[in-house]
Amino acid sequence: MKPQMLPTSMNDRKHSTMDSEKGDAMPIRPCRPRNRPLVTGFAVVALCYLLWSAISRYNVFHHICGIHTATPVMVNQERALVPLEAHIMSKCPDAKDCLRMMVLPTMQRVIDKVNFTLSFIGTPTDNDGVECKHGPAECMGNIIELCAATQYPDPKTYLGFTFCMTQDYKDIPQLSLIQDCALEHGMDFEKLNECALKDDGGFGIELLRDSVRRSTAAGVTKSCTVRLNEEIYCVRDDGEWKDCPHGPGVNDLVLAVEKLYQSSPMV
Ligand SMILES: *[C@@H]1O[C@H](CO)[C@@H](O)[C@H](O)[C@H]1NC(C)=O
Repeated sequence: MKPQMLPTSMNDRKHSTMDSEKGDAMPIRPCRPRNRPLVTGFAVVALCYLLWSAISRYNVFHHICGIHTATPVMVNQERALVPLEAHIMSKCPDAKDCLRMMVLPTMQRVIDKVNFTLSFIGTPTDNDGVECKHGPAECMGNIIELCAATQYPDPKTYLGFTFCMTQDYKDIPQLSLIQDCALEHGMDFEKLNECALKDDGGFGIELLRDSVRRSTAAGVTKSCTVRLNEEIYCVRDDGEWKDCPHGPGVNDLVLAVEKLYQSSPMV
């Protein structure tokens, strides 16, 4: 996690964007209510010290004992991130539903615990090209969305952009749609354009080919497929959820991520 993503004060916490839901969901319980007798204060301080000694993980201490007492040294102690992946096609209506109903709301809550990858589905061709189910226009859309992820690696940015594109998926890859979505998410359209046109388009095709191969290797054929920890978690297909043994609920996916994260090794 980038250090600047951690809220450093109550104010930052209130103003942080995607972290805010998580922040609201975990109320801060200060260790020292101001009007209590001194002895309670000592007891609580002692308890906090014990907790701090026992649980050296920053987050736990941070939430139990309040931000003002957290030690900055703890900030960098993290667990290995949990792999979370969405496999989509840019001109697929199921991708739009899947991002809106599952991927985006989940990412809002666990963005700091996952290593997110957005992958594309297609068919590699003999001449090192890629065929896309909805034609060359979809391949172009996929390349633009992969360029967005390459140029702006923060999932908040490129997922927002990609979701914006899927809302008008029929218009992909119209220039005005790309420009509007880029503007909406603070991206420089020229950077996307340069990426897509680099090496006469070879660079973009390579991004797409690698991404499509990744999906194929994972045995993924349907847009949209969500995979958690390298395993298929849920599929959105023909306007329905399929192959979702744990259900399509966001809460269940968030809990599954958190459980995996808690059992992840420290890094
Ligand atoms: C995140 O996942 C990608 C594969 O999608 C991998 O190449 C990369 O090393 C992972 N990064 C971290 C920080 O785990």
